[in-house]
Amino acid sequence: MRTKFCVANWKMHKTVKEALAFLQDFIPLVDEINDREIGIAPTFVCLESIGNALKDTNIKLCAQNVFYEKKGAYTGEISPIMLKDLNVEYVIIGHSERRKYFYETDEIINRKIKACIDEKLNVIFCIGETIEERQSNKTFDVLKRQIEKGLENINNPDALVLAYEPVWAIGTGMVASQAQIEEAHAFIRSQLKELYYEKADMIRILYGGSVTPENIYSIMNTENVDGVLVGGASLDPVKFARIVRYEEQRRNE
Ligand code: 13P
Repeated sequence: MRTKFCVANWKMHKTVKEALAFLQDFIPLVDEINDREIGIAPTFVCLESIGNALKDTNIKLCAQNVFYEKKGAYTGEISPIMLKDLNVEYVIIGHSERRKYFYETDEIINRKIKACIDEKLNVIFCIGETIEERQSNKTFDVLKRQIEKGLENINNPDALVLAYEPVWAIGTGMVASQAQIEEAHAFIRSQLKELYYEKADMIRILYGGSVTPENIYSIMNTENVDGVLVGGASLDPVKFARIVRYEEQRRNE
């Protein structure tokens, strides 16, 4: 059984004060939920205060990025050890915004994943095709390459969660169809099986891209969807709580 996982990726939003105000509203809306995991990935500067506010709650502290070295002369970077020290449990790696704006390659992403696993941090590894790649029928080639290179020499998938985030669906309101999600997730699962055999069945695959309370019910009821990685809609405590409580949203669709 794969435990469902709903993660808020706040990207570059919310000051410490705003982040704490979010939690005041959000925690009571989800505090009795214990059959799924909930994660929040605030900015680095919020990690300590948000981590303190999440102590004794059912919500996991996540980070949006990391560097692959343990320490050293790398101005502006943050190491896995530093994240671990703040009780971070999951790190998002390979997000398309990092690939696009910060030129992260599959090789860099692979080094980051390895560095996190070495420090016993869990990883949410993001993959996904652009609209041009989809329109030229390269979706599977791209996913295959991202998986093979991103997970090169990573022999144990215990700390891994994958996130399928089609780039064209991120922040656009153009959510992927259930058929598109099902097909991509099945392909990702088959690729993971080639790498990890029966252990691949334990790896959760999240969907990300324009998830809202209005579309969460059908997304979560898609084969091989084990949760969601949510951007825009996770900034609002009521909306994100409705996403976490996805079974209750059926009437909204
Ligand atoms: P949106 O939910 O805003 O489309 O963002 C998705 C995303 O990039 C999550 O990592």
